[in-house]
Amino acid sequence: MASSNLMVGLEIGTSKICVVVGEGKPDGTIKILGVGQAPSRGVRKGEIVDFETAMKCVHEAVVDAEEKSDIMIRSVYIGITGAHIQSFNNRGCVRVSEDHEEIDEQDIEDVKINAREVSIPAPNAFLHSIIQHYHVDGQDGVLNPIGMLGQKLEADFHIIHGVRTRIQNTIRCVKELPLDVEDVVFTPFAAAQVVLTQHQKNLGALVIDVGGGTTDYVLYVDGAVKQSGVLAVGGDHITNDISMGLRIPMTRAEKLKVEEGSTVLGNCLPGETVLLKDDSGFAGKEVERETLNTIIHMRLRETFELLKRRLEDEPFLDYLGEGIFITGGCSQLNGIDHLAEDVFGIPARASHARTMSGLTSAFENPQFSAAIGLIKYAQAVQGDRQQRGRFGRFIGKFFNGMR
Ligand SMILES: Nc1ncnc2c1ncn2[C@@H]1O[C@H](COP(=O)(O)OP(=O)(O)O)[C@@H](O)[C@H]1O
Ligand SMILES: [Mg+2]
Repeated sequence: MASSNLMVGLEIGTSKICVVVGEGKPDGTIKILGVGQAPSRGVRKGEIVDFETAMKCVHEAVVDAEEKSDIMIRSVYIGITGAHIQSFNNRGCVRVSEDHEEIDEQDIEDVKINAREVSIPAPNAFLHSIIQHYHVDGQDGVLNPIGMLGQKLEADFHIIHGVRTRIQNTIRCVKELPLDVEDVVFTPFAAAQVVLTQHQKNLGALVIDVGGGTTDYVLYVDGAVKQSGVLAVGGDHITNDISMGLRIPMTRAEKLKVEEGSTVLGNCLPGETVLLKDDSGFAGKEVERETLNTIIHMRLRETFELLKRRLEDEPFLDYLGEGIFITGGCSQLNGIDHLAEDVFGIPARASHARTMSGLTSAFENPQFSAAIGLIKYAQAVQGDRQQRGRFGRFIGKFFNGMR
């Protein structure tokens, strides 16, 4: 990894581990050089439960990405999730010291620290403080106060935190390989960087990443993150329901869901069945298509209703001008957009990472949104570092808003 423009994103999902190698181009675009994958084992509901096994899987995915991209990977941006991750909004306030007139980088740091002066559960650590808006002497909606004159600087942040040891376990799993960890990023936040445009964030949008063991979400209004979190329910629960409901093994239930499943009810012919061919010792079986779809529909409806209830704690659902974007592996389920529209009463669509150069169509798959999003995040971080280097105290507008 000689070039400083190389960036690697690693998503340790419940279903798969995905490593994306990207290269930032001078014109600001990103070229994807390779994507490596391995099935995920030792991970439950987005969290590592078997350290040794998870480490082997991460290693496998890293080696695969190295072969595909012809790059030696030394450091990664890790995407993390898990139901322990929580968030809230808080305002920080500082008096700009009298020995300087202009608001500077230190004031920005101070106001961020001040916003974090709230009690979070003792075992937790801060993951992100994402800037929403600054206020200078009561003037609202300031995007970048550096260089402005003012006496009182206030700033609203979306603060994300999670259980320290669980975050550290993920980091350790990568460091043991050994790889350096550039940063740790909450996965739906990474996914949103490639699923949404800035314009869509400005108009208001909700990203829902329905993965294997979790459903992760992030909601933007006025270009700022207002709500985010994780539900410990995902596609594996649908598979489990199919397995129990139709009395078939999990592997068959998974295949049936992916190949034949739909969330749409009342669309089948009366008595229409799907034939399960005999497979690895199990006899063939016919299952009613409507029953299969009902199982999928019910679980997803419940998941969306759960999410809606959680989001309704605050008023932001009323401000989603661009609606809902569903991504993650389960967003490929037929009719999931209509189901979300029905539950939320807001337009919804299934979505994946917007086209990037070097990204073959196989990876324009919603399963890879978060991992590809990590590269976009990394690009913003590295751009910021370079600007800091070049302009000393200058803070890049974009990244300043991201952590
Ligand atoms: N074509 C498909 N149709 C429906 N569901 C799918 C499809 N492909 C993958 N899935 C489901 O998506 C989930 C995995 O999504 P993914 O985003 O890769 O999860 P994670 O990030 O948790 O590893 C699994 O439950 C899998 O069954
Ligand atoms: Mg995922």
